Amino acid sequence: MIERLVIFGATGDLTGRYLLPGLAALRAAGHLRDGFQLTGASREDWDSDEFRRWATAQLGRHAAGLPASARKAVVSSSGYRQVDVSDPAGVAAVVAGDGPVAAYLALPPKVFPAAVSALHEAGLPSGSRIVLEKPFGEDLASAMTLNRLLADLVPEQAVFRVDHFLAMTTVQNVLGTRLANRMLEPVWNAAHIAEVDIVWDESLALEGRAGYYDGAGALKDMLQNHLLQLLCLVAMEPPISLSERDLRDRKLDVLRSVRPLTEADIVRRTRRARYTAGRVGDRDVPAYTAEEGVDPARHTETFAEVELELDNWRWPGTIFRLRTGKALRRDRKEVAVRFRHVPHLPLGHSGEALPNVLRFGLDPENLALDLTGIGVHAHTLVPLRLTAQIDPPELPAYGRLLLDVLDGNAALSIRGDEAEEAWRVLIPVLSAWSKDLVPIEEYPAGSDGPQPRQRDGGKE
Ligand code: BG6
Repeated sequence: MIERLVIFGATGDLTGRYLLPGLAALRAAGHLRDGFQLTGASREDWDSDEFRRWATAQLGRHAAGLPASARKAVVSSSGYRQVDVSDPAGVAAVVAGDGPVAAYLALPPKVFPAAVSALHEAGLPSGSRIVLEKPFGEDLASAMTLNRLLADLVPEQAVFRVDHFLAMTTVQNVLGTRLANRMLEPVWNAAHIAEVDIVWDESLALEGRAGYYDGAGALKDMLQNHLLQLLCLVAMEPPISLSERDLRDRKLDVLRSVRPLTEADIVRRTRRARYTAGRVGDRDVPAYTAEEGVDPARHTETFAEVELELDNWRWPGTIFRLRTGKALRRDRKEVAVRFRHVPHLPLGHSGEALPNVLRFGLDPENLALDLTGIGVHAHTLVPLRLTAQIDPPELPAYGRLLLDVLDGNAALSIRGDEAEEAWRVLIPVLSAWSKDLVPIEEYPAGSDGPQPRQRDGGKE
């Protein structure tokens, strides 16, 4: 286990909201030893005391449920260095020390190439690891350039391209439930499954993130990474093991099998929209274009929907619909697998045999299976729902992924070729949208999103 973690960009939101609480959760669960050292590094002219004060406040805010002793231990293991991440000499001073280091780039993606080059020039201690947050590059070409720079720095197994969804036990449950139940895998194919909806609807709006989000939009922020990863878990062939190679090879197969979208497909099968002013719960939300830091001329979408099909033996004709949006009426975060209609219902039944739907609730975690049975009247079909609540995970997603980084287990991070393939899938959409082939729609904040369109539906 690596015992030194350096966070570049340590005074930002990611560190305060997720990384420090993740470390405190690891400490509380006994995964961090006393010798663990955290170095925060950033442009701010702070000293270690100031960083510790800030870290204490962040942990108080975002990890109040964890024992005070664990929070304190993380703070007292920490120090701070002011640094320009593109300056090799400064970076060298930050990573210097005994033994390998895990270098977490909690930085805007634009800065990655300069930071990785500086680390390369500075020289990392042998056995070190590097951690990056999505988006990995801003398009296919920049993702490939970044991958080449990373390959010069450390071996691929030492690169942790973080997708925190993969570290959520709820997300892992999609594959776990699928493969651990004899009754599911035999029907897990296009002969039985018509449609899969992969949905991450959030009631949260921009939350002051215009600086990043307005340059990204829903497609790059969520769909290109988190939702495509969910698609991989739903659609992959069963891996031999959960080792990094088996798991990532099988996910890559899914991405490679996504049917390329033509411009005509994109017009018909994708949507983009942004929210106008409205009320979400008891909050007034301004129009996206009126949010501070947003440039309305960019036409950044806060809602994106894309329908995909897979060209392989398992999934011919099944529709995979990926959808995400912000400032929506309610949180709906789930994978809903809709089966085809039964081929025949004995005459004499009344009512309808609706298609079975298996729902993986991702946040909060639950499972639901929609079936049809007989109600109070003889031979009369009624919908039934079986549900199960699942206990919250032992570790939050960022705790899990930090543990994997320190332990050197890359199975739940994105491999370089997966990152590139994910761009291949969605670059045609970004380019068609930038040509305005798909008009940007609007929806009031607090609504269910843009009005539904007439759909083709799954081929039954
Ligand atoms: C992040 C996106 O990666 O995932 C956010 O940048 C989104 O826009 C978030 O809100 C959703 O995940 P979580 O775990 O924060 O609910």
